[in-house]
Formats: sequence, structure tokens, C-alpha cells
Amino acid sequence: MFEVIYYSKTGNTKKVAEAIAAELGVKVENVKAKKELAKDSFVFLGSGCYASKPGKKLGEFIKRNDFKGRQVALFGTSGAGIGLEVKAVEELLKPAGAIIKGSFYCKGKTWLLLNRGHPNSEELANAREFARKIKGQAESKGEKK
Ligand SMILES: Cc1cc2nc3c(=O)[nH]c(=O)nc-3n(C[C@H](O)[C@H](O)[C@H](O)COP(=O)(O)O)c2cc1C
Repeated sequence: MFEVIYYSKTGNTKKVAEAIAAELGVKVENVKAKKELAKDSFVFLGSGCYASKPGKKLGEFIKRNDFKGRQVALFGTSGAGIGLEVKAVEELLKPAGAIIKGSFYCKGKTWLLLNRGHPNSEELANAREFARKIKGQAESKGEKK
């Protein structure tokens, strides 16, 4: 099964999470309310970027869950749109033994009207495409449980 878990302060990453979840046919889960991962789930994990880092709650979630051998796909949004938050999450997950299957990131609107309208419809369509691709790969390898 797939799980889509996100951390979002201002709603941008939640939009991306919802696009991914819609493609996978599952619901989104806010990391603030999420306790444990389902056994053997394939996890889509996302965060906004705050001072070049992912949300603290996401880091705490990674620490208290078992990612050993778990398949994970990452997503994120930021002002710069260059994926620093995704790279930082990857650095937390690698020592935890996760298997990173791919990542997606895009711009998110931010203060002073910067990036107005982001993530836009094209970026959300790209997020869906990303989820479709990862799902297809997992299914063709019989990895989806
Ligand atoms: C407290 C704070 C710090 C931020 N720091 C950065 C940053 O270091 N680099 C960047 O590119 N964007 C930064 N941003 C912009 C956010 O990453 C961007 O708006 C992102 O889409 C927020 O995601 P969210 O709406 O899911 O919370 C920051 C925004 C906030 C509120």
C-alpha cells in the first residue's frame, strides 16, 4: 500500500501531497497527526523548505519510525524551487536504511508575493505524473504490497 505523508506550514506542500495522493487513490496524512507507518508501506514523504531545511516534525517522524528497507519517494516545495528540503530529507533517510525511489520538487508561493500561484496547475500535473511513474515502477516490479 501507499502512504502520502506531508509537513506543510502554509499549504503549498499539502497541495502537492493531495495531487500525488489523488493519483495513487489514497488520502493524505499530515505528519503532525501521523503516529506510525503501516507495515511494509511505500511512503511518499514531503515537506516545505524552511531556512533550507524540512519541517522539524518530519525529522522527528523519520527518527521514530522504521525505514529500514522501506521504499520511499520524496517531494517538496520551496521559494527557490531547487529541492534543498528534499535533499535534506534524503540525508536523514539514507542512514535509516530507506530505499529512495525518486523525488519531485517545485516552487511554492511565499512572503512578499513571491512565486504567486505556485504550485501551479502545471506543477501539480507534474506531481501527478511523478506519482504515476513511481506507482507504475513499483507495480511492474511487484513491489507494491
Ligand atoms: C519560515 C520560512 C522559512 C523559509 N525558508 C526558505 C528557504 O530557506 N529557502 C527557500 O527556498 N524557501 C524558503 N521559504 C519558502 C517556503 O519554502 C515555500 O513557501 C514553501 O512552498 C512552503 O511550503 P508550505 O506552504 O508547504 O509550508 C521559507 C518559508 C517560511 C515560512
